[in-house]
Amino acid sequence: MNENDVEILIPEEQLKQRVKELGRQITADYPDGELVVVGVLKGAFIFMADLVREIKREVTVDFLEVSSYGKSTESSGQVRILKDLKDPIEGKHLLLVEDILDSGNTLHYVKNVMQQRHPASIRICCMLDKPARRSAPIKSDYSGYDIPDEFVVGYGLDYAELYRHLPSICRILPETVARIKAEGRGE
Ligand code: IMP
Ligand code: MG
Repeated sequence: MNENDVEILIPEEQLKQRVKELGRQITADYPDGELVVVGVLKGAFIFMADLVREIKREVTVDFLEVSSYGKSTESSGQVRILKDLKDPIEGKHLLLVEDILDSGNTLHYVKNVMQQRHPASIRICCMLDKPARRSAPIKSDYSGYDIPDEFVVGYGLDYAELYRHLPSICRILPETVARIKAEGRGE
């Protein structure tokens, strides 16, 4: 990779400020009771790590891994749980943390599965939202930024498993996608 592969869309400092605000809002909103913050792997890992440090109340964390995209930039619409939660969530407040809400298929599926386990409540917090792409009936309760219908990477988000480590949200350039495909690494 080189620095011309991507273009910054939301810089690191701005993300940091927004995550602080989300944390404040979540801290203020939640009633008493157990709160478990569940990160959807892999994309949410950086956002989740930043977010929980801004939540000023007792909290536990857990992770889920789901598949849906493979190496493509388009959702296959098929969702599977690859790694389930470690602990039961019955009677607990569940906050699902996602990197990005796109078609909504992933979270729609995950929310339904979680609902069957009878948590006290389920809310969704996503860093990014592409409202124009929504096809499943799902909304986030907390959301960092609405973005246009463009493929983005960084701050946990990948293309073909690359660029997750970038500290800012970046758009990936079409020529970068073409190069990675030509190398046989992306779809
Ligand atoms: P959905 O099921 O279509 O809402 O897709 C959700 C998942 O697709 C996200 O959790 C991401 O992992 C991935 N995704 C959607 N849009 C992007 C993007 O622009 N860049 C990287 N990953 C994305
Ligand atoms: Mg994801």
